[in-house]
Amino acid sequence: MNSLRTDREILEEISHKFQIYGELLHAEVCKIGHLNETYTATYYQAGARIRYIHQRINTDVFKNPDHVMENITRVTKHIRDILRRESINEVTRRTLTMVPTREGKSYYRDINNNCWRTFFFIEGTRTYDAVINEKQAYQAGKAFAQFQSHLVDLKGERLHETIPHFHDTRRRLEAFHQAVNTDPFNRAETAKREIEFIKKREKIAGVILDALADGSVPERITHNDTKLNNVMFDNSSDEAMCVVDLDTVMPGSVLYDFGDMVRTATSPTFEDEQDLSKVKVRSSFFQALARGYVEGASPFLTPKEKSLLTFSGKLITYTIGIRFLTDYLLGDNYFRVHRAQHNLDRCRTQLKLVESIESKETEYQKFIDSL
Ligand SMILES: Nc1ncnc2c1ncn2[C@@H]1O[C@H](COP(=O)(O)OP(=O)(O)OP(=O)(O)O)[C@@H](O)[C@H]1O
Ligand SMILES: [Mg+2]
Repeated sequence: MNSLRTDREILEEISHKFQIYGELLHAEVCKIGHLNETYTATYYQAGARIRYIHQRINTDVFKNPDHVMENITRVTKHIRDILRRESINEVTRRTLTMVPTREGKSYYRDINNNCWRTFFFIEGTRTYDAVINEKQAYQAGKAFAQFQSHLVDLKGERLHETIPHFHDTRRRLEAFHQAVNTDPFNRAETAKREIEFIKKREKIAGVILDALADGSVPERITHNDTKLNNVMFDNSSDEAMCVVDLDTVMPGSVLYDFGDMVRTATSPTFEDEQDLSKVKVRSSFFQALARGYVEGASPFLTPKEKSLLTFSGKLITYTIGIRFLTDYLLGDNYFRVHRAQHNLDRCRTQLKLVESIESKETEYQKFIDSL
């Protein structure tokens, strides 16, 4: 019976559980994303209309919501403290602000065991699904770099790893080899070129892992989902205001964040483009992204980290290519497919991008070195 409750009924229940004392006027779906369900809720509070975000945490992916919320609580508080100390204006538009439950907890578990959290709605901003111009690439690079920069000196216990082994390319390769060897759907034949491509470049898999292990690249606090639609842009100035979607904030290398930006923000196509001639890194977007990132990261970035920035774009793209191909070989269990060979197409775009980065790697890194 509970599953038949409407969104309105669920949100009505939730509205009384957080430290919001206005009346709920209405609530709409903001986004049913890959991970969370996000609702925009409008309250009437002491004569004004105020909006909040209610978000259902995906506990299939994040098995331990306490860990996720502990991380987010610490990280947002730390950033808020820094912004206040630096007398930056509009602090509550520049970092997420959590609203605790009436019991003082960071999330509310409903009768169906769904976990809900609430944030201030950041007004006057919007997100974009794809990078349209170089200015946005610059802004996104800077926003994620500043986010990392703010967390460089977070004291206390290590943050929780909300998804263990998230960027372990070696593990991804092992899973890939196993999929090729067992080939349960007889698909390896259709992906011969891609399999060879991946095998030829295996030695890059351990570069950042080894550097983290020997300490030559420091472990830092990173975002781990640096897509453009996790940056809120100001409606009038188009300045990046705030970084959202903090479920995967955890210890790691800043290189992975930059690498994933290269992967997602420099090609003009979608991830599943079938016309590979269109898939490539646009140099002007790469440069704008790198400029924004290096500017924002300059307070902490070490020479070694800087020297691996272009490489990290190649590595992350290679890693995602491996994951798409592995999923294709194993029957498409992880990434949702909408057509035959969808995951193979996705793998092909990634490998095409790897090639594109490779062909300009020296030039791009020279550019970064000059910044
Ligand atoms: N505090 C906020 N104020 C205004 N809008 C927000 C806020 N938090 C999130 N949003 C909007 O909701 C969208 C989804 O939020 P979020 O990225 O946290 O969820 P998600 O399900 O993980 O998304 P995805 O799977 O697409 O990455 C954001 O892209 C943004 O447009
Ligand atoms: Mg998101």
